[in-house]
Amino acid sequence: MLFLALLVKVTWILAAEGGHHWTYEGPHGQDHWPASYPECGSDAQSPIDIQTVSVTFDPELPALQPHGYDQPGTEPLDLLNNGHTVQLSLPPTLYLGGLAQKYVAAQLHLHWGQKGSPGGSEHQIDSETTAAELHIVHYDSESYDSLSNAAQRPQGLAVLGVLIEVGENENPAYEHILSHLHEIKHKDQKTSVPPFNVRGLLPQQLEQFFRYNGSLTTPPCYQSVLWTVFNQRAQISKGQLEKLQETLFATEEEPSEPLVQNHRAPQPLNQRTVFASFMQAGPLYTTGEMLGLGVGIVVGCLCLLLAIYFIARKIRKKRLGNRKSVVFTSARATTEA
Ligand SMILES: *[C@@H]1O[C@H](CO)[C@@H](O)[C@H](O)[C@H]1NC(C)=O
Repeated sequence: MLFLALLVKVTWILAAEGGHHWTYEGPHGQDHWPASYPECGSDAQSPIDIQTVSVTFDPELPALQPHGYDQPGTEPLDLLNNGHTVQLSLPPTLYLGGLAQKYVAAQLHLHWGQKGSPGGSEHQIDSETTAAELHIVHYDSESYDSLSNAAQRPQGLAVLGVLIEVGENENPAYEHILSHLHEIKHKDQKTSVPPFNVRGLLPQQLEQFFRYNGSLTTPPCYQSVLWTVFNQRAQISKGQLEKLQETLFATEEEPSEPLVQNHRAPQPLNQRTVFASFMQAGPLYTTGEMLGLGVGIVVGCLCLLLAIYFIARKIRKKRLGNRKSVVFTSARATTEA
């Protein structure tokens, strides 16, 4: 009987995960995802390293408006450790304006690194990683009746990506999630959190963002996501980051395996275009590049001046030489005469 129950549970878990166990490192790590989940090896995957010199400014991109984020209702929200991340369920009263369809919220979750090692975000901007990243997952509710039905369709999902860095102050919005992590230390543990203002998890400025077509960053890696990655970062304190890095386990029981480094490496952009809602402000070049450029210009000018000087000298010499030969010829002419 117990055996049967166990078998049912194993089957259920396998079914829930699409049949294959996956991790970020090791024999089931991200390099092996395509073997079990073919779409993970496809050509429009996420995350990406956004190179700001290569993005296309699109003045037509409408501002993104999160609706209902600041009124999350009265129902408590489910917070789950699913073994891969910490995930908060969101009600469909939260939705996005500024996209071609109405996308309603379904859940949010986080990606992070490990104490003592840099990085943790999935997206990068100019090859810069940050400590963590928030993903708020929405689905096209006009075309599909559920998240799972939308998740396999082109642009079925719209995900907001927020890069999170460490700042001076504790971020009270993130504390609504982080203060409950100790209640869901192990995989498949769930708790309820009181509703809170989800807008507080986003950066202050929403006007500057990048937009591209990509995928889920975890198996089965469906290429169904219209991504919006904000240029401005959110900030949490060092203590908050450490709580995220040190509280959760990826396993149900002993031996416990810490839930860390749950971020996928950047994927090739291939033929895709990344659009930006804004023109690159600030210096186009770093100080080092500016210095290099300055030195280059000065050296270049010097070389040019030297070249002109030598050419001028050569021309003068040649003229003098010509004149001498003329004198010589005429001298000879005189002698001969
Ligand atoms: C995403 O792909 C669709 C279909 O190919 C295209 O119409 C749309 O412009 C693309 N959006 C972005 C942001 O690249």
